[in-house]
Amino acid sequence: MAKTKILFTIAALVTFLTSCNNKSDEYIDPRGTDYAGSESCIQCHQTQYESAFHSSHSKATAPAIPENVLGDFSKGNPVFVYDKNTKLVVEERNDSLYQVLYKNGKEMEAHRFEIVFGTKHAQTSVYWHNNNTYELPLSYYTSVHSWATSPGFPSDKPYFDRKVVKDCYSCHSSNISSRTVDQSSRENSFLTMDAEDIINKKTIVYGIDCERCHGPAKQHAEFHLKNPNVKVANSIVSYQSLSRQQKLDACALCHSGNDGIKVKSRFEFKPGDNLSEYMRSMSDPSGTAEFDVHGNQYRLLAQSKCFIKSEKMDCITCHNPHENASQNLASYSKICLSCHQEIKHSAATLKTMPVSLLANNCVECHMTKKSSNAIRFQLSNNAEMSNYILRTHKIAIYPKTENK
Ligand code: HEC
Ligand code: HEC
Ligand code: HEC
Ligand code: HEC
Ligand code: HEC
Ligand code: HEC
Ligand code: HEC
Repeated sequence: MAKTKILFTIAALVTFLTSCNNKSDEYIDPRGTDYAGSESCIQCHQTQYESAFHSSHSKATAPAIPENVLGDFSKGNPVFVYDKNTKLVVEERNDSLYQVLYKNGKEMEAHRFEIVFGTKHAQTSVYWHNNNTYELPLSYYTSVHSWATSPGFPSDKPYFDRKVVKDCYSCHSSNISSRTVDQSSRENSFLTMDAEDIINKKTIVYGIDCERCHGPAKQHAEFHLKNPNVKVANSIVSYQSLSRQQKLDACALCHSGNDGIKVKSRFEFKPGDNLSEYMRSMSDPSGTAEFDVHGNQYRLLAQSKCFIKSEKMDCITCHNPHENASQNLASYSKICLSCHQEIKHSAATLKTMPVSLLANNCVECHMTKKSSNAIRFQLSNNAEMSNYILRTHKIAIYPKTENK
């Protein structure tokens, strides 16, 4: 009797374990069964995978494990002073990072870094609360190698109530599902009539992955696994077959600001779709409107004579979509010169620097650095706002004074 019981237990255990194995073998993408997940692309597209894996796109959002959080903690915990009694300290506790509020030396509240946004110029983080994410009051800025107020946050008092909504994830991640909870069905409906979104943590696909830009590719991957001799791509949209505007739209989805009226969720966009079906622009792209250097590369570029008159320039003219923007400014000059073999700079311009230097520095003068009007920040114990500086994508002739 005891023996059969043991045997039965073992049999049950084996079935249980193998079923677990089967489950973990088969990757299930939160976006649905049309999606294969980036890992499945490596075996056939190692080059693209390796460069994309190191790109800012893939780190546009990431779990906030200490390795993913920017900032040097070796010189002690970073501190932001609000007033003589109030300070916020970034601390590591049990392999997690926290922003901890102290009043008169006493801990008031501590919030854990859960998800990081960004790596290049700035990094901001969120904590979970009631099935939603909230931005932490301090962000890290690489231009000053320091922590400062998150964009739009006060520097005279701590603030923990800024919800980071699904919209942020629609440009910074590959998936997140939310559910609207109808508050009126709750008992205290008379208190809050607003519908509230609840984010399902398990549905997050971090960063901008292969299928965010290429569309669902499970069928493509399965076809090529079954037909290893077929060398022509099957069941996947080819960017080469798209019109110029379709190619631009695939990047403008996230690189043309956020002032449009949303018609459909950005998450539903697939390459080949028209952006106008997802959002209606509020601003005339060909007009003289001043677009911000942060987040609006498309509209700025679209105002350039190069873009308008060449009738072919798009983002891929200068960027490899699987890599970060090149830091080597001379490499862009080569691209400029591919269309501008015969530039005739005036004598006054030629006097400003040797011809050889001029030839490598097109970007320095024609895509100058500018301060963002949308993003500014404040350092601890500093009354002044610091600027957030990026290069403009409006290629033009700038007066010398604007160069900085
Ligand atoms: C079993 C092999 C295999 C797997 C797995 C695979 N692909 Fe492909 N893929 C191919 C082949 C073969 C081609 C055609 C030759 C080429 O362009 O490299 C191709 C081409 C492509 C192209 C170019 C299409 C074009 O015509 O411009 C894209 C984009 C692409 N794959 C994306 C993906 C993504 C994303 C994944 C993972 C979800 C993936 N592939 C998984 C074999 C595979
Ligand atoms: C789903 C939204 C989304 C799409 C689609 C998208 N991007 Fe981005 N892109 C971002 C975000 C967000 C960042 C900032 C990432 C970061 O630094 O955390 C970014 C960063 C970049 C960068 C700077 C990377 C660096 O560190 O130098 C370049 C260049 C870029 N994108 C080009 C493109 C091009 C070209 C396309 C179209 C082929 C495109 N992007 C499509 C959201 C998107
Ligand atoms: C930011 C958007 C973006 C992301 C993320 C992205 N791709 Fe691409 N990919 C493109 C664009 C745009 C092209 C077309 C490039 C061209 O025409 O020069 C392309 C081209 C390709 C091609 C055709 C060959 C080539 O290199 O031009 C393959 C294969 C490919 N991608 C696979 C992948 C895989 C695998 C991943 C994930 C590891 C990935 N891509 C991530 C935008 C993206
Ligand atoms: C319309 C798309 C879009 C939305 C919405 C959006 N972002 Fe971004 N974000 C971008 C792009 C594109 C960049 C990178 C290029 C730039 O700064 O122009 C970026 C850059 C950033 C960076 C700096 C990344 C780096 O590596 O330097 C942070 C941090 C960030 N965003 C956080 C957020 C947060 C938090 C929200 C929501 C409150 C948000 N973003 C909403 C598109 C978007
Ligand atoms: C795809 C071709 C192409 C590329 C690449 C290109 N341009 Fe142009 N650019 C043009 C055309 C066409 C014009 C318009 C010439 C005219 O009006 O006759 C132009 C105009 C200009 C002007 C005059 C702008 C004005 O407002 O009067 C400048 C400056 C310029 N380009 C600089 C650059 C720089 C710098 C780069 C590289 C970062 C570059 N271009 C890349 C095609 C290109
Ligand atoms: C004529 C060349 C050119 C074209 C076309 C172009 N870019 Fe860029 N891009 C640049 C240069 C130059 C930089 C700055 C590199 C640096 O300073 O390290 C840059 C940087 C970026 C960055 C990083 C922002 C930052 O300052 O770190 C993003 C994001 C970006 N480009 C997106 C786009 C998108 C989206 C398009 C298409 C709408 C596009 N670019 C078209 C030349 C170009
Ligand atoms: C020191 C700053 C500086 C650098 C570097 C520079 N330019 Fe210019 N560029 C100017 C100024 C100023 C003008 C307007 C006055 C003039 O024509 O000299 C101009 C005018 C132009 C024009 C419009 C006049 C024409 O001939 O059509 C083009 C195109 C142009 N530059 C392209 C380039 C390219 C391409 C490079 C890199 C090989 C470059 N510039 C490097 C400052 C610069």
